[in-house]
This record gives sequence, C-alpha cells and structure tokens, in this order.
Amino acid sequence: MKRISLTQHLIEEQRLHNTIPSELRLLIEVVSRACKTISHSVSKGALGDVLGAASTENVQGEIQKKLDIISNEILLQANEWGGHLAAMASEEMESFHPIPNRYPKGEYLLLFDPLDGSSNIDVNVTIGTIFSVLKAPEGMQEPSEQDFLQAGTKQVAAGYAVYGPQTMLVLTTGNGVNCFTLDREMGSWVMTQRDIKIPADTAEYAINASNARHWFPPVRRYVDELEQGKAGPRGKNFNMRWIASMVADVHRILNRGGIFMYPADARDPDKPGKLRLMYEANPMSLIIEQAGGAASDGHQRILSIQPTGLHQRVAVFLGSKNEVERVTGYHQVT
Ligand code: AHG
Ligand code: MN
Ligand code: MN
Repeated sequence: MKRISLTQHLIEEQRLHNTIPSELRLLIEVVSRACKTISHSVSKGALGDVLGAASTENVQGEIQKKLDIISNEILLQANEWGGHLAAMASEEMESFHPIPNRYPKGEYLLLFDPLDGSSNIDVNVTIGTIFSVLKAPEGMQEPSEQDFLQAGTKQVAAGYAVYGPQTMLVLTTGNGVNCFTLDREMGSWVMTQRDIKIPADTAEYAINASNARHWFPPVRRYVDELEQGKAGPRGKNFNMRWIASMVADVHRILNRGGIFMYPADARDPDKPGKLRLMYEANPMSLIIEQAGGAASDGHQRILSIQPTGLHQRVAVFLGSKNEVERVTGYHQVT
C-alpha cells in the first residue's frame, strides 16, 4: 500500500484547493510534531515522572496536572521560533502568549487545549490535544485578545491528536477530515483514513448523566426519550458511552456516529456549560461539520457564535446531524 505522509497530503491539498500556503503547512507540521512529543511523554507515564497533579491552578480554577503543564510548554516552545505565528492562546494560560521579539512574527493565531481529558491521565485512559488556527486580522501590529475573538467559521484549520492505543492526528483545513496514525518507528504521520463522514443517524449518545438533576427541560426530555428505548417515542434502543475526554468521545463519533452533549445546566448562570468555545468547541465543531455532522449550543450553530472572551464556556451538542437537530429543536419549544 502506498503510504501518504502528512506532508505529502498538505502539499497535495494546497495544489488542489489552494487552502494551505507554506506558512500554514509549517504551522500544522510544527503542531503535529509537538503532538508527537506529547504522545511520547504520555506513553512514558510513571517512568517519565509525568503523572499526578502539579501544585498550581489554571485560570479556570482547576488544579493542573503535570501533563497539562508539560504539554502546554511543548506546544509553546515548538511554535515560538518558526515565524509562522503572531500569538498563541491556551487553556492553561490566562492571557495570550505573544511571540517573543527575538523571533519573526507570522500571520496566524494558534489556540489549544494542550491536554484534554486530564482526569484520565493517571488512570491510563485516552486523552488528547485540541487546536484551532485563525488568521490574524489584516493590518494587526501588536496582537491583543480582541484579535483572537473571531467566530469559529473563520478557522483556517482545526485538529486534534488522540493518545489512545494508537496515537492519531485528525485534521481539517476546510476540505473534509482526514486521519493520520503515528508510525512510532519511523516517527511519521501516515494517512489512515480519508474524508471521514459521520452517519446522520445513530443509536449512541454521550453525556455525563450524573448531572441529570441540574439539566434544563429540553435536555431532560431528549435524554428521557433515549432512555425509554424501543418502548418510548423514539421506538428504538440507544446505548450510552462517556469517556470524559472530549477528544476520545469525538473520535468515536467521527468513526461510527453518535451525539456528544455537555449542556448548560441550572448550577451556575455564569457558566454556560463546561467546555470552552475557542479551543474545545470551535475546533471540534469545524471537524464535525466538515465530516457531515452538526454542532449546536442548543440555540445556534456553535461556529457562528461571536466570542467575547478567550476562555468563555459554551453548551455543546455535536455529532450525528439528525440527533443534533432534534435536541436543538427541543430547545425551541417553549
Ligand atoms: P480538560 O481536561 O481539558 O479540562 O477537559 C475535560 C473536559 C472534556 O474533555 C470532557 O468531555 C469533560 O471535561 C469531562 O467532564 P466530566 O468531568 O463532567 O465528566
Ligand atoms: Mn479539554
Ligand atoms: Mn485541557
């Protein structure tokens, strides 16, 4: 079988669609190289002294794990010097990270969740890295937070690396979704799935059901109906999966369909959901839409939301189109 490397794919994609100029290709290659380094650290576990908590909190008030910090550092260092970026922002840093003056600046902005699924690190369950790429606004001199606050539709690339039994990179640059598997011996990303499409219907859903008592009526109604199975209004049985790593749940949905939900709930009106718009929901929504699925916050398409802050949260319903449309529809009924 002919092996197509990530580099070959990016170059061919540029020839075909003119969507990956060389600076963007460099950016994607640097991020994917950083993910190889993170994958290596992840796989060492206790042998690499990377497990457990650090003694710090991030801007969201979450205790950071050692791997949250290590992965953040790996991504920052890898992306600082290449000249392809104007600035970076991360779940693990309160404000954005400008490119130091000693390096040239490029025209792209990179956002990332360096380590997604932190609660799974210490129990050897799948985790990942999520990233989103935007273009800096025309004529930008010194980057500001405002420059990052662009709707998800403006992303020029989005992807994630999943550190599971295999390490994979899933990427979109706006012309479908492709998956690359890390060949550890060769150190290269090899394309293993091309133009992935999500089935519009599914019999599988993902939600943290321990929050059920806090859900709002539309979510309660939707999940109730799924739970009733064949005897209920849906007339078929549904199965449930919850990995507690968005990357792993999304990866399953990309491969065999499903709906993933992290709704807003009645607990804290200042927290519309748990997941962060700019470096979790937006990149995942672009990938899901590019694979033929849908992504909504219950009221609107996630990619259309005008962001107001780097770390803002958003309710998320994404995956198989018909299910996302149904639960979104339930929010419209009063
Ligand atoms: P992170 O580890 O980057 O903070 O993200 C964790 C997120 C997401 O990956 C996952 O779907 C969700 O939190 C799990 O939430 P619960 O702890 O409520 O299961
Ligand atoms: Mn996350
Ligand atoms: Mn994280």
